[in-house]
Amino acid sequence: MSGLAQVQSGNGQPTLSERADALEEHMMHELEHIVTKSVLFGMADGKVEMESGPSLMAKNPGKYMLMGEDPRLPKMPAKPTLLDYFRCRFASTSHLLQSATHALKGGHSEKVVLACLLHDIAVVSFIRCDHGYWGAQMIEPYVDEEVSWAVKTHQALRFFPDESAGYKYPDMYVKLFGPDYQPEPYIVEEYKRARDHKHYMTARLICVNDIYSFDPNAKVSLDDFVDIIGRNFRQPKEGLGLDNSPSAHMWRTMLWPSRFL
Ligand SMILES: [Fe+2]
Ligand SMILES: [Fe+2]
Repeated sequence: MSGLAQVQSGNGQPTLSERADALEEHMMHELEHIVTKSVLFGMADGKVEMESGPSLMAKNPGKYMLMGEDPRLPKMPAKPTLLDYFRCRFASTSHLLQSATHALKGGHSEKVVLACLLHDIAVVSFIRCDHGYWGAQMIEPYVDEEVSWAVKTHQALRFFPDESAGYKYPDMYVKLFGPDYQPEPYIVEEYKRARDHKHYMTARLICVNDIYSFDPNAKVSLDDFVDIIGRNFRQPKEGLGLDNSPSAHMWRTMLWPSRFL
C-alpha cells in the first residue's frame, strides 16, 4: 500500500502537508540509503522539527544513512570546479550571466565582472536570507578581497540609491516588498560603513549592473566568462569544497546537501 493512503487528517482526508510528507517518505524508501533533511529545510515549510536517527533506522530496516552524494542530484566530478557548481548546483544562472554580460559590455574591470557574475550565487544555490554575506564568505578564500567585499556589500547598497553612479531604488523592490519597506538597522549601518570604503564603487557597480527585469530571451553564455574565472578565481587543486579553505564546508554542503552528518 502506498504511504499516501496511510495518513489522514481529522476529516478523514490527508492534508496537503501530510500528503507531501508521505510522498517524501515513500520516495525515501525507494532509495538505497536513508536521506535526511536538515532542520533548516523544514523551517522553510514552517516546521521546527527533526526526526531522530534511530527512528529513521527503524522505519528503513537494513539501510544506512546517506553519507555521500545524493543520487537524485546531478553528478559532480571528483574534483569539482566553480564551473561544475554553475552547471550542476546553481538552480538558475540567467540572472548572474545577464548581470555579468552587462558589466562586460560596459567595459568594467575583470574584478567587477566577476563580482557581478558571483553576486547572487547564495540565492541560486544556498540560501536567500542575507545572501550577500553568505555568497561573500563562500568565495572569499578564492578571489581578490575587492570581489568578496563587493558581493557582501551589495546586500546593503541595493536598498540605497546613488544617482551619481546611475543607481536608483529599483521599482521592482517596491513591487516585491511594498512601498513602506524599510531595511533593518544592520543594513543601514552596513551602508553607512560602505560609503567611505575603498571598494565602494565595485559594490555599487554590482547594483548598477544587477538586472531587475529578467529577460528570458537574452543570449548569455557561461563560456564568455571561463577565462575571467580562470584568471580571477583560485580554483583549489583538490576540488572546490574538498580543499582546506575556511569556506570549503559551505561548498561541500552544496555537494552533499542531504548527508546525515
Ligand atoms: Fe543580490
Ligand atoms: Fe542580483
